[in-house]
Amino acid sequence: MSCADLLLKQLSLSNLPEIHDHLMRLDDASRSQRFAQRASNEVVAGYTYKLDFVRDMHYGVWEDASEAQQLRAYAHLAMNVGSRIGEIGISVEEPYRRHGVARQLMARAVMHARNRGLLEIMMYFQAYNSDLLALARCLKMQVSVSNGEGMARLRLNPPSPGSYADEVIAGWAEVGPASWVTQTSETGGVTRLVWDVALQRYFTA
Ligand SMILES: CC(C)(COP(=O)(O)OP(=O)(O)OC[C@H]1O[C@@H](n2cnc3c(N)ncnc32)[C@H](O)[C@@H]1OP(=O)(O)O)[C@@H](O)C(=O)NCCC(=O)NCCS
Repeated sequence: MSCADLLLKQLSLSNLPEIHDHLMRLDDASRSQRFAQRASNEVVAGYTYKLDFVRDMHYGVWEDASEAQQLRAYAHLAMNVGSRIGEIGISVEEPYRRHGVARQLMARAVMHARNRGLLEIMMYFQAYNSDLLALARCLKMQVSVSNGEGMARLRLNPPSPGSYADEVIAGWAEVGPASWVTQTSETGGVTRLVWDVALQRYFTA
């Protein structure tokens, strides 16, 4: 596997089967870590079919090399707009770990949360989950552990024209320019300032 074969994209309701298959491919230990409890096939299926694609954001990393694209990593950003806190659940299939996949997914989720005015994102984890602890520390998250339960939190900066522009460019790469234009016009479009910053960054990158 080469990192060049991996592609990060926003996921939609139509990707539910791939999300379900990815979570089912996790071994027992990884599933327990992902759901912070033992997770039978029924628990995974129940979780998957309750996912909210209107309020929350979903990102995946696809492997492009095989004939049928496979979802190899998945991040769910649950948006609590009332408390302005986002909660992230993340999983990467074993052979794809330690290639920066989780870091990329986290960066994308943070970008979205920041631009929607959230103040903080958090992740719950089991205290013995050393991989998650290492990831959280690498992302400079504040980590606390009590009674075997861990929590990692990251304060977010307020949005800026630059952070909106970054998301414009990311969205462009993820869904392609044509769908992106449709998506953004449905959600009110972007201001001229953001558009200018995005174009400038895109063409000078
Ligand atoms: C935790 C998890 C998501 C990390 O995914 P990943 O793609 O391997 O993480 P990354 O490659 O992006 O790692 C980023 C950084 O975190 C640290 N890190 C991650 N895994 C590590 C490990 N096993 N040992 C040491 N450092 C580690 C490193 O600093 C790493 O950067 P580097 O490789 O440049 O040194 C993955 O192990 C996983 O899916 N675990 C099971 C599910 C789970 O625990 N989910 C979290 C609870 S929601």
